[in-house]
Amino acid sequence: MPTELRATIAKLVTPGKGILAADESVPTITKRFNALGIESSEETRRAYRALLSTTPGIEDYVAGIILFEETLGQKADDGTPLVDALSRRGIVPGIKVDKGTVALPGAPGDLITQGLDGLGERLKAYKEKGARFAKWREVYAITDRNPTPLGIEANAEVLARYAAICQELSIVPIVEPEVLIDGDHTLERCYEVSDAVLHAVFRALHRHRVILEYIVLKPNMVLPGKERLPKASSEEVARATLALLRRTVPAAVPSINFLSGGQSSVDATAHLNAMNVMAPNAPWVLSFSYARALQDDAMRTWAGRKENVAAAQSAFHRRAKMNSLARHGKWNAALEKAA
Ligand code: 13P
Repeated sequence: MPTELRATIAKLVTPGKGILAADESVPTITKRFNALGIESSEETRRAYRALLSTTPGIEDYVAGIILFEETLGQKADDGTPLVDALSRRGIVPGIKVDKGTVALPGAPGDLITQGLDGLGERLKAYKEKGARFAKWREVYAITDRNPTPLGIEANAEVLARYAAICQELSIVPIVEPEVLIDGDHTLERCYEVSDAVLHAVFRALHRHRVILEYIVLKPNMVLPGKERLPKASSEEVARATLALLRRTVPAAVPSINFLSGGQSSVDATAHLNAMNVMAPNAPWVLSFSYARALQDDAMRTWAGRKENVAAAQSAFHRRAKMNSLARHGKWNAALEKAA
């Protein structure tokens, strides 16, 4: 069993590379498309995901792409199954397997993610179609009262059960506990919540005998709320996030691939870069698994038009390249401008 998990992890942690999350559910991608005046249909979603997946040279920066179920069966413009188009270039196909959130009874304001029932069967089918890793996201909103202790424990338990089921089937689980950026809370409050969340998650992973060597952690960075001014500097974000991770994430975890969570594309790059500058010898790889911060420029440039595909692909290529530099602490504002 570990042979397969080990091989997948080895690919995902390749130096200079990160993960693209292109796994928005139909309602989420529809919201993003509609905000830009793009129609959301099975065909426009296919065309857009094919654009990302077939961007020339992207394999230099992207080790894996997380797909949504619908995309797993779709084809590139030339008729090649998208999964084959990725695998041929050494990009590992992954799959989002959670079914979104509902309110958690007994914990007003907290959510819990659904999808554990029948997960093993679904994973087997996804694996048959080429998926080698999976993603599951739990979300935690920050208010004066949330997340509650019950919310933190219940979400951790679900994440750990998902991870254990994945490993049993030799699929690498991306474990994603996302403390949300919404609100006007301080950076310190985000730290406090993220600390409680990660402690609970790793206790639960231990309880469920998840092998830490074969997971990828996908956490939020430690940031002040989106409405809080002034913003934190990259150094402040990096310092707080590194302190949090050192205190909560065992060194056995091979890779931490951050979500972008509503930061601007350049902020997400700058923050990742600052962490790699500050901690070049961190026990884990510090990389990216962004959706919005990798896709925003490309989606806007594409705007649903065939004639914009090449320009959108170069926008995606540029962001992937900037984040690849940040993964080694080699990005700077001048390079960003030049790009
Ligand atoms: P963002 O980078 O847009 O936060 O998305 C990451 C992700 O995959 C959320 O589950």
